[in-house]
Amino acid sequence: MLVVKTRNELRDKLNKFDEASDLGLVPTMGALHLGHVSLIKKAVAENQNVVVSIFVNPTQFNNPDDLKKYPKTLETDVSLISAISENIIIFAPSVDEIYHKNVIHKNYDFAGLDNVMEGKFRDNHFNGVGTIVEELFRLITPKRAYFGQKDFQQLRIIQKLTEVQQIPVEIIGCEIVRENHGLAMSSRNERLSNGTRLKAAFIYKTLKTAKQKFGTESVVNVKDWVSNEFEKNKDFQLEYFEITDVETLTPAKNKINTIKYRAFIAAYTEKIRLIDNLALN
Ligand code: PAJ
Repeated sequence: MLVVKTRNELRDKLNKFDEASDLGLVPTMGALHLGHVSLIKKAVAENQNVVVSIFVNPTQFNNPDDLKKYPKTLETDVSLISAISENIIIFAPSVDEIYHKNVIHKNYDFAGLDNVMEGKFRDNHFNGVGTIVEELFRLITPKRAYFGQKDFQQLRIIQKLTEVQQIPVEIIGCEIVRENHGLAMSSRNERLSNGTRLKAAFIYKTLKTAKQKFGTESVVNVKDWVSNEFEKNKDFQLEYFEITDVETLTPAKNKINTIKYRAFIAAYTEKIRLIDNLALN
C-alpha cells in the first residue's frame, strides 16, 4: 500500500500514470468509516487510478478543542483502504507540507451559500474547506472528486468553488451511509458513549417525521414541531433546524412547487456536534 507524505513524492507517483487514464480523488480527514468507504469504492469503480487524501485540516476548525480531539487512526485507515484496493494512493501530508508554516485560509465568495447553517455557526469553516480542497485539486488535478451528501452544504460549496476558481473537475455527490438504526456515520460518532450512539437515532427519526409533515404542513409548523421535539428530549441540544432550497440553500418561508427542498439538523449531545440532512421532496 502506498502512503505518500510529501508533494514531491505525490507528483512522482502521479507522473507515472498514463495521461489518458481517469484519476479520482476522495478527500478525507481520516478516522475512516463505512461512509468514507462508500465514496472510495465508487471512485475505484469509476476511475483507473484513485487518490485518497487524509489530512485533518486546521483552517476549517473554528473550535480548537474539536481540532485537538479529532480522531487520528492512520494505521487502521490504511488497512481499510488496502482492503478496497492495493493500488490506491494515500496522500497523508503534515500540516507544514500543506501550509508551509502559514496556517491561514483563503477568502472566497461562495455567493451566499456559506451564510447559513454550518457557515453561520462555524466561523470561516467553509473558507478553510475551500482552501484545502482547492489546494488538493491543483496538486492532484483529478478528473472526478467524490463528496458525501452527509455534508450537503459542503458539497454545494465545493461545486461553487470549482465554478468560481474555474477548476475542471467533476464533483460527484454520494448518498449518506447510516448505521443500522439510522444515525449518519461520522468520525465524531466514535466519541459517543454506546448508549448515546443508539439514542442519536433520534436525529434521523426527527428528520424523517419532518419530511412526512412537510407533505401536508407549512414550513413554520414543521420547524415548530422539530423545536418542540428537541425541547422534550434533554439528551440533545438543537443548534439549528433549517429547511432550504437545495440549489441556493436559502431558508424556505413558504413552499413553492417547483423548488426542491432539504431539511438540515445540527445538534449537540455529550458536547459532540452531530449533523444530518434529508431530501424533503
Ligand atoms: P470528512 O469528514 O473526513 O469527510 C470526507 C468525505 O466523506 C466528505 O465528502 C463527507 O461528506 C463524506 N462522508 C462523511 N460521512 C459520510 C456518510 N455517513 N455518508 C456518506 N459520505 C460521508 O468532509 C471532510 O472530511 C473535510 O471537510 C474535507 C472535504 C476532507 C476537507 O478537509
